[in-house]
Amino acid sequence: MSETQTISVPRPAPQLRCIGCGAVIAGADAAEDFRCRACGNLFEVEYPELLVRDSWRDSKPPTLAANDAARMGHPDSIHGAESWKELWRGRRLSRERLNRSGVWRFRELLPFMADDENVVTLEEGNTPLYALPRSAESLGIERLFAKHQGMNPTGSFKDTGMTAALSVAKERGFTWVACASTGNTSASMAAYAARAGMRSLVLIPEGKVAWGKLSQSLDYGAVTCQLKTDFDGCVSVLAELVRRAPVYLLNSVNPYRLEGQKTAGIELAEAMDWQVPDHLIVPGGNLANSSALGKGFLELLALRMIDRLPRISVIQAEGANPLFLSWTQHQGNEFAPVEAHTRATAIRIGNPASWQKAVGILRATGGWCEQVSEQEIALAKAEIGAEGIGCEPASAVTLAGLKKLRAQGHIGKQETVVLLLTGHTLKDPEYTIDLHRGKLLTAQETAAMPATQRAELEAMASAPQVLEPSVDAVMRVLDEAVQSRMVRG
Ligand code: F0G
Repeated sequence: MSETQTISVPRPAPQLRCIGCGAVIAGADAAEDFRCRACGNLFEVEYPELLVRDSWRDSKPPTLAANDAARMGHPDSIHGAESWKELWRGRRLSRERLNRSGVWRFRELLPFMADDENVVTLEEGNTPLYALPRSAESLGIERLFAKHQGMNPTGSFKDTGMTAALSVAKERGFTWVACASTGNTSASMAAYAARAGMRSLVLIPEGKVAWGKLSQSLDYGAVTCQLKTDFDGCVSVLAELVRRAPVYLLNSVNPYRLEGQKTAGIELAEAMDWQVPDHLIVPGGNLANSSALGKGFLELLALRMIDRLPRISVIQAEGANPLFLSWTQHQGNEFAPVEAHTRATAIRIGNPASWQKAVGILRATGGWCEQVSEQEIALAKAEIGAEGIGCEPASAVTLAGLKKLRAQGHIGKQETVVLLLTGHTLKDPEYTIDLHRGKLLTAQETAAMPATQRAELEAMASAPQVLEPSVDAVMRVLDEAVQSRMVRG
């Protein structure tokens, strides 16, 4: 069945638009590596009967295609928009298969499936928005929240994109899907492929993927190859492989992934009663997610479902900071890959595919790009853990970055800030254990920390203690803990 055919309701014909040269093609005509045949850049999905965009480069929101809006039942008026909001909220009470997904309950903004039967879902999305009162207090911010995308079925935000793109693979009749990954995409892909009865091929950098993630891809039955290279090397191998074998590429260059991932932004706006936060802070790796979220907000704005955009800021690890360098040294106009090194292995990426999309969103929303050190990531991770929430190291860059943005005066006391936590704390328990045992950072790294930061990290560390099985021994530990808490306050 072709992408434009419909089953029950009339749907807009989706198309792909190249963000480089503006070429427009039908979804089914995309190259195997999802690169534009004319200029080599990436595509974005657009819905010409719903929203129109003159040029991707101008960073302006698309506008509503008003002529067909009424016929399609789309919200060309405030009244119409309100009725979609009601519809989406109401679906949370529904037991119907697609309504139980926090991605597909927004399907009016995902009109690219020809047949809903092909949708592969694990009931992703609908993730919590937690307050972070302790971090808020120490930063002097009144409203700080974490949108925890690690609370998805496979423990990362990738599930929201995977349900979208893997469903397209199914609809197009593929039996094999593949990705290069730092671990989360592969875990997610393996799970969704298994649910769909499809096979999956995973390429991951040997020794640089957290155990929790590697174990998932094995558990869900993926063919898992640990290549003796880094993530960027895995991407190069896969780009060639998809031209030689009939496998469907599920890296984030696949624009349908971003369609699913944009729903986290819609969900966030919904959770805040359609008053978007002033700031949304996201980690940057391959740089697709920041632009996916931005696309969601731009579409909501065009549909007049929100009345402004949040500033979207991207935070990178210092050792994997090509966007930071491009943004601060060349205003995002030039870009040079780096050799990436960070313990936040999820974002250990030196040559991110979607950097231009990320630059577009930084510009469109007025956000910033910052970098944070290994020490700052470690401390932020401990702080998010101490809020009873936890996340994987790559997600903790958001809090570390917020501290910097706040110190620079970019974020005011009364502004509402949301951190996007991308992965679950159990993804990388080794990092957490090393951190609390004081074995994560080298002596040199510890020595290089400002004294206050070092003291904070030491105070947060809570290493496990091996004891004789006696009540007295445990009582002693308890007393010490009570004492030290009283000293610390
Ligand atoms: N946070 C986590 C936990 C991730 O796994 C990733 C990316 C990111 C942030 C960065 O998102 O790439 O859209 O900028 N992980 C990919 C993977 C690359 O293969 O799992 P991005």
